[in-house]
Amino acid sequence: MQRSCVIVLLIGFVASKKLPSYIEPCPRSVKEAGPCILKNVKIIQPKMEKGIPEMLIPALNPLVITESRLDTKTIIAAFHDIKMYNLHNFELLELKFNIETLEIYISINFPNMACTSRYSLKGKILLLEFDSHGKAQGNFTNLWADLKGKMELYDKEGKKHFKINNVDMNLKVSGASMYFEDIFPNNKELTENANRVLNENSQDVIKDFVPVLIETVKSIVAGIANRIFEKNVLHLLVFNMADGTFLLCLSGQIEWADVLASSGSSWHCKYEFCAGPDWRILGGLEAGLSQIVNIVNNGDKVILNLPIEIQYKSTNPYGWPQIVLSIYKEMQLAGYGRCHVPLKPGNHKVEVSLSKPQASSMLGYLASFFGYQPELLQPKMLATTAGNNLILMETSGSAQISFNIVTQGFNALGYDVGVVRD
Ligand SMILES: *[C@@H]1O[C@H](CO)[C@@H](O)[C@H](O)[C@H]1NC(C)=O
Repeated sequence: MQRSCVIVLLIGFVASKKLPSYIEPCPRSVKEAGPCILKNVKIIQPKMEKGIPEMLIPALNPLVITESRLDTKTIIAAFHDIKMYNLHNFELLELKFNIETLEIYISINFPNMACTSRYSLKGKILLLEFDSHGKAQGNFTNLWADLKGKMELYDKEGKKHFKINNVDMNLKVSGASMYFEDIFPNNKELTENANRVLNENSQDVIKDFVPVLIETVKSIVAGIANRIFEKNVLHLLVFNMADGTFLLCLSGQIEWADVLASSGSSWHCKYEFCAGPDWRILGGLEAGLSQIVNIVNNGDKVILNLPIEIQYKSTNPYGWPQIVLSIYKEMQLAGYGRCHVPLKPGNHKVEVSLSKPQASSMLGYLASFFGYQPELLQPKMLATTAGNNLILMETSGSAQISFNIVTQGFNALGYDVGVVRD
């Protein structure tokens, strides 16, 4: 049996390059984007009733289809001005989208769908001979569709676009009631009878039409999907943060050092940030020097209040930034300290232990009797693991640093730092 069908969809929207703010882009790291897309569909579902122009999604209540034509061996049917109602009440039962194979699977249920249109029919349905036209309407309950397809990437003007291909679909309707006006013009009784026969055998009628219905729904779905995907919505949704970077903005201060300071002594502090190879500094100071603090009473804390501020951009958490402190008493080293910048956004106070190196040679050991304090040429090396096992250190107090951390784009890349403190 030869069947064909033509659909003309009337959807005109202007594409926008950016996703609306209420959409959460999916992390790039996952293979299976289904749950993430599903979550976003749930967010936008209430808006679908009226349509979402910025995402090229047409209004679903009603969805207007200009024309649909079916052509089977026994019947030629044409529907015009089709309005489908309540499509926005769909229940998305399952959605899978594999980013690597680009295979897509959708299982969807429309609990109550209604449609109105103008029809023209010529041919045979059941045992009834039709040659008529007029208004038609139908109510359908639990229209269930199961769609499997494969997205295809293709190049257009040097950019990658998506297209949905190889759509394979199942369709079931659990209840249907239809009414065709004027099946027999000028004979209301015969028209009523014909409609009764159609409805009493609605499952058979639908069965007969299912392959054509499938084609129709396929064209509608594929038409909408292709428009959406072609305009790169999916690309933005799934592969947002195209450069895969995130930002880390840090501000705060080195508050104090507790180093058993004696009265009359004076202190200062140096700091240095140090991060892995993928980290780039966008702004702020990588290193700094505090004012000089004079101690009045024995054992007072050295109040430094040295502001720190730096912004990083990175593609990779490897080499997460660390801060290295060097505390000096007069011109002599009194201790080093280091810690990682906190991972979680928010406000943190971190207490850092200080230690100072001991002389490692006999000569150095002797020198330390005369007031010489060994120093590292590069305090930064404390932030790495290279060769640190050869340094002898002794503890020399502690310092407190406060950090305010703001990140951008970190979660979107699929990293999870747990519950954020405030
Ligand atoms: C469809 O439902 C509407 C509203 O419930 C009703 O007015 C209409 O008669 C129904 N149509 C058919 C063909 O059952």
